[in-house]
Amino acid sequence: MSAANPATQGAAAPLLSIRGVETFYGKIQALRGVDMEVNEGEIVTLIGANGAGKSTLMMTICGNPRARSGQILYRGEDISALPTHDIMKRRIAQSPEGRRIFGRMSVMENLQMGTTLIGTEHFDADLERIFTLFPRLKERIDQRAGTLSGGEQQMLAIARALMSRPKLLLLDEPSLGLAPIIVKQIFEAIRELNRTEGLTVFLVEQNAFHALRLAHRGYVMVNGTITMSGTGRELLAREEIRSAYLEGGRH
Ligand SMILES: Nc1ncnc2c1ncn2[C@@H]1O[C@H](COP(=O)(O)OP(=O)(O)O)[C@@H](O)[C@H]1O
Ligand SMILES: [Mg+2]
Repeated sequence: MSAANPATQGAAAPLLSIRGVETFYGKIQALRGVDMEVNEGEIVTLIGANGAGKSTLMMTICGNPRARSGQILYRGEDISALPTHDIMKRRIAQSPEGRRIFGRMSVMENLQMGTTLIGTEHFDADLERIFTLFPRLKERIDQRAGTLSGGEQQMLAIARALMSRPKLLLLDEPSLGLAPIIVKQIFEAIRELNRTEGLTVFLVEQNAFHALRLAHRGYVMVNGTITMSGTGRELLAREEIRSAYLEGGRH
């Protein structure tokens, strides 16, 4: 987990490296010295109970709220003091918790919003890529986003993030409130993106079972700090993970 880890040094330096990050909401400390890494081409998941600080970490990576101390290195550059749009320009895209799509706009207009930072040069090709990944969105292209089902809205939120051609995709609880079959489709799409394009994904989830099965590696957050890490398989096999996060969560 530390910078001295030989497996992540030199040529294989991590894409994202979070070191000793502390974040506060006023006087409330939400992150208490977080250390973690995401290597290029990996799916890494962060699991933890409600209120652990998972969303705060993801938002801190995006610069809002800002880390009060520690470093967030992206390709070796400390981005922790950059404005959010400068962070996004480095090809980091976020699908936030609760999706935050534009409900009054059509599916197409939402997808267009995703290209704000990169322009429309690749629009048609990228649209085809999205339709292959989520055929439902093609059927709904002119529909107002607010009238989509929860699963379709989640697909749209991910698709909109993908329209910015990210190198690092941040996903906050994409499975929240969705039917098991839809969760399966969405996780399958994430796996496919990673497998075929090598897209690096950082996935925050309370749905530990599916997240750990999907991810190459995982971290467990408790009370604003990382308490465990390992491969998805290792973490799934650990008794303390099973009892704390998997009871009844196998759906
Ligand atoms: N805007 C905010 N203002 C004050 N406290 C917040 C705010 N957002 C989150 N918190 C607090 O920070 C802690 C971590 O929250 P959060 O990052 O949302 O956790 P998680 O995503 O793991 O459920 C919680 O105690 C939560 O109440
Ligand atoms: Mg959250």
